[in-house]
Amino acid sequence: MGDPPGCPAVAERQRGIREDADVKTKLLRIDEHHIDPALVREAGAVIKAGGLVAFPTETVYGLGGDALNAESSAKIYRAKGRPSDNPLIVHIADMEALAAIVRDIPESAVKLAERFWPGPLTMILWKADIVPCETTGGLDTVAVRMPADPVARELIRASGGYVAAPSANRSGRPSPTLAKYVMEDMDGRIEMVVDGGAVEIGLESTIVDLTVTPPVILRPGYVTRQMLEEVLGEVLEDNTMMRADSGQAPKAPGMKYRHYAPKGELTIVDGAAQSVVEYINGHIERHRLEHKKTGVIGTDASVRQYGADVCKSVGSRDDDDMIARELYRILREFDDEDVEVIYAESFDTDGIGQAIMNRLLKAAGHRVVHVS
Ligand code: TXA
Ligand code: MG
Repeated sequence: MGDPPGCPAVAERQRGIREDADVKTKLLRIDEHHIDPALVREAGAVIKAGGLVAFPTETVYGLGGDALNAESSAKIYRAKGRPSDNPLIVHIADMEALAAIVRDIPESAVKLAERFWPGPLTMILWKADIVPCETTGGLDTVAVRMPADPVARELIRASGGYVAAPSANRSGRPSPTLAKYVMEDMDGRIEMVVDGGAVEIGLESTIVDLTVTPPVILRPGYVTRQMLEEVLGEVLEDNTMMRADSGQAPKAPGMKYRHYAPKGELTIVDGAAQSVVEYINGHIERHRLEHKKTGVIGTDASVRQYGADVCKSVGSRDDDDMIARELYRILREFDDEDVEVIYAESFDTDGIGQAIMNRLLKAAGHRVVHVS
């Protein structure tokens, strides 16, 4: 893959870090309604000392390290098994911290922060020199988010104010929505996991690039294009967000990797409800003859109509928020049960539905069948 431009030291540093094969991972439970300051200080001290702490945010669990410490960022890539050209999001707790890590704060960023921070929105801005290129994967820009989760906010403050945090999954696994999923992926690889309970949203933040005019959405999330346009006027979407055939490389380096992938082969089936059920059941019969373990991702209204070995509902079509919250848990469960072939129903793309379909399409490697 070669070194990213402008940051020749990235690969070099990564080679220099030894594999911490026998790290003992401490699990720390912090109640978000009664945050114990002593526990937060303990977790913050780990990050200040250059260690890694996974922690809850309102979107998904993050894998945190000191964003201004190049060694910490290199450790994050190692723990995730993630390519070092895939930049990290810097999590902050106040606007003073933003001023310190970007070259300047455009008017658009001020407006978005007033409306959506703290919350599930990440802004791409030109980086200041104090942000090491290890954190930004060699880019001149930096991704910044101010999360709303109270445990995350306290932890960021106790860690020195700048926490680099990708989702706390091993590369290629769905992002964790519960501390137990972080432990599945990270036990023995990082110093600490803070368990703050279940996340609220369940899909990663919306990413908007403010270094271009008009701004461009690089990854859909809870904050939709319409919500951004109410604040900024025209906002564009990266062509690669919902399509496999755009022939372009995504602008968020992480979006080009096959993320969120279940072990089983996943196909999305789109069309009229009854036709979808018939198509899926027909194919399940065929796979059964091949002695393959089959699965279906349906909804409350449809799930009982399927004849697969493992049938799961992501919730009700009337409740998009619930579907967003459940999707990654369900994908993980199919992995745990070693399902080999999975069919999923398709979902509407309005509101958070666009983020749901973006993640599902990526999990399926854009394998979609349309039935009429
Ligand atoms: O909700 C979230 O954003 C979660 C929580 C933990 O905050 N974090 C998260 O991080 O999803 P991660 O690393 O899994 O995804 C970050 C995405 C990647 O696709 C990465 O390529 C992109 O953000 N990204 C980061 N910095 C960027 C930059 N300077 N320019 C373009 N894309 C960037
Ligand atoms: Mg991720």
